[in-house]
Amino acid sequence: MDLIIRSLPFLLTGVLQTLKVTIIAVAIGCVLGLFGGMGRLSNSRFLRALATCYVDFVRGTPLLVQLFIVYFGLPQVIQEFKEFLEVSFALGPFSSTSHIPPFIAAVVACGINSGAYVSEIFRAGIQSIEKGQREAALSLGMTPKQAMRYVILPQAFRRVVPPLGNEFIAMLKDTSLLVCIGYAELTRQGQLIIGNTFRPFEIWFAVAFLYLIMTLSISRLVDFTERRLGVRGHH
Ligand code: ARG
Repeated sequence: MDLIIRSLPFLLTGVLQTLKVTIIAVAIGCVLGLFGGMGRLSNSRFLRALATCYVDFVRGTPLLVQLFIVYFGLPQVIQEFKEFLEVSFALGPFSSTSHIPPFIAAVVACGINSGAYVSEIFRAGIQSIEKGQREAALSLGMTPKQAMRYVILPQAFRRVVPPLGNEFIAMLKDTSLLVCIGYAELTRQGQLIIGNTFRPFEIWFAVAFLYLIMTLSISRLVDFTERRLGVRGHH
């Protein structure tokens, strides 16, 4: 118990980092997801294909590998691009390092990842609104854009609250993969404490418990929001 109490401040800094990355990643995900979801439903074949490629690639490959592409792969490309500019156009000199800070790599990789899942959530949310709603809006003289903006999206918004909550919880747990790029989130902090104390059992349980507190609080919050918005029983 003493061990846990002494480790707690250190673990709590990890909790804060975990929450920070998750919130920023899902926020980026929502922006990308809006484009992705609309793209999937677009009349343009090109936009549909683009959105489908994005969603398929991200959901069909492991987040860990995507993280490695951003954190290890991107700096190589940046470096090569700088050298190209220097050699071909005599530009520069550029800063000698192309290293990407773990935090930046984390929010970029997790944000892009989340965007693919959110795209599908938004697409499904829009498609779940009965056809009659759009037809009624059009028959009132609305343009298709207005029907989308004032009739379909407001209703779809409520329906995507529960799945968005699930995405948030899933992302929060998946940020534990950031341990692999050394980002100081909760799992990483646990690992570091164990390196000093050699007490894996207590520490990993403490880490698990802290994740549990976060995920349970979020799902309570989602339930509450759901009830406030009257998601259930409203059609
Ligand atoms: N577990 C899956 C993976 O490792 C999904 C990760 C992303 N999860 C999410 N909700 N965005 O690829």
